[in-house]
Amino acid sequence: MREGTATLIRREDYQAPAFWIRTVDLTFDLDPAKTLVTAKMALERNSAVAHGPLRLHGEALNVLRVLINGESVSFRQDGNELVIDNAPDADFALELRNTCAPDKNTTLNGLYTSGGSFFTQCEAEGFRRITYFLDRPDVMAVYTVLLRADKAKYPVLLSNGNLLESGELPNGRHFAKWHDPFPKPSYLFALVAGDLVAREQRVRTRAGKDHLLQVYVRRGDLEKTEHAMNSLIASIVWDEARFNLPLDLERFMIVGVSDFNMGAMENKGLNIFNTSALLASPATATDADFGRIESIVAHEYFHNWTGNRVTCRDWFQLSLKEGLTVFRDQEFSMDMAGGASARAVCRIQDVRNLRSAQFPEDSGAMAHPVRPDSYVEINNFYTTTIYEKGSEVVRMYQTLVGRAGFEAGLKLYFERHDGQAVTCDDFAAAIADANPGSALTTRLDAFKRWYSQAGTPHVQARGAYDAAAQSYTLTLSQHSPATPGQPDKLPQVIPVAMGLLSHEGQALTLHLQGEAAAIGAEHVLVLEQPEQSFVFINVACAPVPSLLRGFSAPVILDDGLSDAELLVLLQHDSDAFNRWEAGQRLSLNRILAALRSGAALQLDDAYLGAMRAVLRHPQLDAAFKELALTLPGEGYIAEQVEIVDPQAIHAVVESAQKQMAAALREDWIAAFEANQVMGGYTPDPVSSGKRALANLALSMLVLEAPRAQDSVWPGRAYQRFKDAGNMTDRLGALAALVNAHAELADSALDRFHELFKDDPLVVDKWFALQGRVPEQDGKTFARVKQLTKHADFTLKNPNRARSLLFSLCMYNPAAFHRADAAGYVFWAEQVLALDAINPQIASRLARVMDRWTTLATPYRSAALEAIRRVAAKADLSNDVREVISRALA
Ligand code: ARG
Ligand code: ZN
Repeated sequence: MREGTATLIRREDYQAPAFWIRTVDLTFDLDPAKTLVTAKMALERNSAVAHGPLRLHGEALNVLRVLINGESVSFRQDGNELVIDNAPDADFALELRNTCAPDKNTTLNGLYTSGGSFFTQCEAEGFRRITYFLDRPDVMAVYTVLLRADKAKYPVLLSNGNLLESGELPNGRHFAKWHDPFPKPSYLFALVAGDLVAREQRVRTRAGKDHLLQVYVRRGDLEKTEHAMNSLIASIVWDEARFNLPLDLERFMIVGVSDFNMGAMENKGLNIFNTSALLASPATATDADFGRIESIVAHEYFHNWTGNRVTCRDWFQLSLKEGLTVFRDQEFSMDMAGGASARAVCRIQDVRNLRSAQFPEDSGAMAHPVRPDSYVEINNFYTTTIYEKGSEVVRMYQTLVGRAGFEAGLKLYFERHDGQAVTCDDFAAAIADANPGSALTTRLDAFKRWYSQAGTPHVQARGAYDAAAQSYTLTLSQHSPATPGQPDKLPQVIPVAMGLLSHEGQALTLHLQGEAAAIGAEHVLVLEQPEQSFVFINVACAPVPSLLRGFSAPVILDDGLSDAELLVLLQHDSDAFNRWEAGQRLSLNRILAALRSGAALQLDDAYLGAMRAVLRHPQLDAAFKELALTLPGEGYIAEQVEIVDPQAIHAVVESAQKQMAAALREDWIAAFEANQVMGGYTPDPVSSGKRALANLALSMLVLEAPRAQDSVWPGRAYQRFKDAGNMTDRLGALAALVNAHAELADSALDRFHELFKDDPLVVDKWFALQGRVPEQDGKTFARVKQLTKHADFTLKNPNRARSLLFSLCMYNPAAFHRADAAGYVFWAEQVLALDAINPQIASRLARVMDRWTTLATPYRSAALEAIRRVAAKADLSNDVREVISRALA
């Protein structure tokens, strides 16, 4: 069955294409079983490349004819390539005709059907499953697309760009013809055909041009598209205001589909979205869903400039568009959130995500640089390193050249490269050239190590105060750990935003030795040597350093601060991120001490008092309190220890939670009561923060109920679950019951399913919640196994597979890592079953074993055995094969 050939593709081997394709005329006769595709293309030789045959990519296609300038031509098949040895030297017309089978395409890559409609996903290499092509991002063509289909079944026919004409055909069929004036790589091609309805909105941009915005979904989902439409309009306004980037097409369409491998896709003028990233109503979506939709709608829209107008030369440059576009959507979400505190909450969430997902990736078997050097399957490299670490790299440019400097750099980038397929080096050069003499430009080569070196740098900071001299010397040092294929690392350029506080919490004025004047209360130090000292003068008292403010670089910081110093920061730091971080460090120190000593965790009064003070604080926002009172995740804790015992970590975290639930019981009650949101639902930062804190308080109160012999709070939770006016409160109350193993949990779960059984996205939540129940005597694992047999469960729908399997294997370490190895056996079975259907999703699940070498006995050897079982399967996809081989390397 497998057609892929597992060759390692290297960045260094890049060669320009031997031919250019200037225009493409595609005709689709759409039929689920057998779709006929006719492609007429204008080709010309790339004179810069040595003379050679024309090699076109194609997969799972049935070729019917190949004509050059209207004459049939001899061709041969070489693996997945169609080779024409005698292609003309002069420009020529190539006509191809082939079929493909959308109904049989369970990979959701290329042209496929979902719920009776047609959709495409072409990034990275899906277009070759539609027709033979130079399916690489540096071949950019102008597309004209004619769609023909049965009118009753597929009343809506969409492709990129503008609608040229549409009309009737014999036999109940109809057609639509689309033209996209912008040359684009094949990965941005899209078509949709189906029985869909649209929410429409007209907008006028600053230039006075009118545009039609449409969000297409299945009948019945229309009322769940309002938030997406509002997010789209906000994104259009923001990109014009912040970066001067306007909407460039008359029409901008978004289409929702239930079967989709990722969040969404930025096809030119025709974004295709996973319904989970598009549909929301207060009754069915949580605050987190509303936030995620806003950021993904923005992300895909922003790609129109950073990705589509300027695209990637090759897939090693993927972060050129993804890191930059994540940075843009993060900035957008912060601006949408509003005030300083709400912005800090966004930043904390982004960093928490980076550290819990990207840091482990960067120290595991799949560690790779932001610009990888090689891959077997490019789909394996749509990673949190490319996206989230890539975004941190872009953020460091901005930190080093300032906001205005960054905007000037981006302007130059578009002036130079609009309409081109370029590299990360081109981006770096544009930002640097627009900022001559800046902290970036003077050390650009060293800064670019962020693209070439994998692994998270470790930074150590130690301060020494000289009371007699009134000076403070801060010594920063760095080292980056070895990663696969990269044993030795050079020092990186690390911007360290910082300030100094007195022990009473006053911000101190900074005056660097050798500088003529003081520089205010905050400064960005640039660490670029293995070790550097910075001397501050006129420091009146021994300071507490607040380092890496706002998480100014994606590093692991050891600042050696004492509990007393962390308490000063938690209470007084002007940087909200570092206030939160100080609280996390206080928690982490205690958890790690218990893990190292093996003794039971006993939370001390100083710690509990500090947490109580945060919870009771009259000025702090609820959203911040919720983040501060949430303990570090088990996955993040695992990253801090040499040998990982997931059961021990879980036991310590559970104990910490119970102690916080007990010691702060009165405070949780007060927090719950004080954070009720009245009136209609809106997902704004203030009310969603209150809901988050009330939900945390409720979960603590239900957790504490058995010990406190309290039946009131479980009862109140159940009542709230039943009466909730929105999904955030309903799911929060349900989770409080289920996660505490409360007696009412099962009846609440049944009721929830009954209420929402017709809404797939809510049923996903029902599965996900059960996959994440804190393990107790193997019950969660048994439940998940049982749920794989539930009538609603299927591996064919990625959202459903993720909801149950990823919840257990990725987010519930104590349920997954079992002494009897049953979790690993289950994992191997599911990876193999998924691989036969959808390699991209299977490969993602395979990656939960990335960090198996750090596991304690007996987990380590059992994990190895399970990985070997998967490896032993003869016809694994390239996707899974690459992940498994790297795990075993
Ligand atoms: N470019 C899309 C986005 O950033 C994601 C495409 C992912 N493609 C893939 N093959 N995994 O939103
Ligand atoms: Zn993207």
